[in-house]
Amino acid sequence: MSTDRRPKRRGVDTAPTTAAVWATVSGIVAQRTAELARPLRVLDLGGGTGGLAVPLAEAGHQVIVVDPNLDALASLRRRAAEAGLSDTLVSTQGDADDLRAILKARVDLACLHGTLEIVDDPAHTVGRIAEVITPGGHLSVVTAQRFGAVIARALSGQFQSAQTILNHPDGRWGAGDPVRRRFDQSSLEAMLFSAGFNVVLSHGVRLFSDLVPSAAIGSEPDRAALIALEQAIAAHPEFAALGQIGASLHVVARRH
Ligand SMILES: C[S@@+](CC[C@H](N)C(=O)[O-])C[C@H]1O[C@@H](n2cnc3c(N)ncnc32)[C@H](O)[C@@H]1O
Repeated sequence: MSTDRRPKRRGVDTAPTTAAVWATVSGIVAQRTAELARPLRVLDLGGGTGGLAVPLAEAGHQVIVVDPNLDALASLRRRAAEAGLSDTLVSTQGDADDLRAILKARVDLACLHGTLEIVDDPAHTVGRIAEVITPGGHLSVVTAQRFGAVIARALSGQFQSAQTILNHPDGRWGAGDPVRRRFDQSSLEAMLFSAGFNVVLSHGVRLFSDLVPSAAIGSEPDRAALIALEQAIAAHPEFAALGQIGASLHVVARRH
């Protein structure tokens, strides 16, 4: 391990917590772009400051971010302007209930990353998204996973709260838990199916990046090796069981 501790700004493709998700999303985007022979129309609901939306717009796609947080949207607009993306990356304040009024046409891909665990009614949110995705279009969901939180609490010696997460209907350790809910793979997949989606890919992510202390990833080679490990587990179906310990769950589904 090297002693280089200089902080580095990471993009979605180089941060250990997002690289595996980005690898999957960018692969799906490339495949669908080739099928349709045109750039995609993308919705990022709860897209915040544009961590995912900016690189998608930079890749030439037409991206709209819908998010209730005005501060996040202001920051996103500054980023988009600085990157010369004001035409391809637009943003609007709103939530799932506003999508039909906001969107002029259906989208080829909707992303819901880090948001389903926050909204008031996840099934309702997924249902509203289904209404604005074109048939055959994709939905990418990244959300907090119950088993990952159980492992993290147990490894830090908090055994009682680990067991509470295991048994709590929303996968929480108590009223003070900052995460409103955590999902199990089967219940999330069932929710998507009920809303009109077929799951095409489902795996845990952030297996180790949330567990290892930052001192253990002090060098670029350490970080690259961690990302490679996370991506190898996310990409390989035989490692799916290992994915259940990931802090997050990444599910990609198609509108039928
Ligand atoms: C944890 S951030 C995730 C941001 C980004 N998607 C990412 O992956 O980095 C959650 C985002 O969801 C937004 N949000 C909160 N409530 C929402 C709702 N009801 N509908 C849509 N977005 C919401 C927040 O404003 C915030 O930008």
